[in-house]
Amino acid sequence: MKKKPMTNKLNIPRHVAIIMDGNGRWAEARNLERVEGHAEGARAVRETVETAARNGIEYLTLYAFSAANWARPRREVEALMRLLVDFAKKERSELRSLGIRVNVIGQLEELPTGTRHAVEDLIRYTADGSKMTLTLALSYGGRQDIVEAARALAVRARAGLVLPEEIDESFFHREMTTRSLPDVDLLIRTGGETRVSDFLLYESAYAELVFLPIMWPEFVPQTLLDAVELYSRRERRFGRTSAQVVRGEHAAFDPLDPVREAPAP
Ligand code: FPP
Repeated sequence: MKKKPMTNKLNIPRHVAIIMDGNGRWAEARNLERVEGHAEGARAVRETVETAARNGIEYLTLYAFSAANWARPRREVEALMRLLVDFAKKERSELRSLGIRVNVIGQLEELPTGTRHAVEDLIRYTADGSKMTLTLALSYGGRQDIVEAARALAVRARAGLVLPEEIDESFFHREMTTRSLPDVDLLIRTGGETRVSDFLLYESAYAELVFLPIMWPEFVPQTLLDAVELYSRRERRFGRTSAQVVRGEHAAFDPLDPVREAPAP
């Protein structure tokens, strides 16, 4: 379904991340199985991805399955894994034609083989996309990602391959599974809860947060456009005063930016 792109006057966030919460409650409120809520959630994913790409968002990151979600009933986990396979198979042509490159953060190797292969195929199939990067967070935990990076650096430091004084914020970020993503600009959560639930902890340091009372299956293209408009009206100060922002003074530091940053030697 085609929507008119937003006007150029809006400040479009470069990186939007979404915690897609409320599938289960949406289903339960309709006397449906929770898995039917996830299926409806997958429809909202398709529309949101297309809307983001058509409106100039360069990076969209979706919390599709957290490291903590393995604790859910087996039937629900299996249904989510099947939905991912369906998405990977049915949407790949559309994603490629929209110029969308698919990327994954988290522990892809933890996924069942069939799901992992379908997602890996999708990554390969869309590798040339240059309009938007769609990142699926799968078996992802923000703390876990930070700890893994710290451990990898400790191993390299012990081997004498890295000096402790070389480790700064961007150096550290290059060890994380989010290394190819810039800082999050806008973090949206549906479902009425006001927490970040271990999502992109390092990368959302200066993100604008938008919490919505609606359930994820109720998220439609206009909801994304409204959230972008809300973002557009906020003043991002990055530690500066409002007067400095108005004068156009630069922040004392740059947010993580793997695109503009020189690669590690
Ligand atoms: C949280 O809602 C949502 C999830 C744990 C899974 C999100 C999955 C999808 C939106 C569909 C599949 C994804 C893709 C990319 C095709 P919840 O179940 O915790 O809801 P509740 O809080 O109401 O119980």
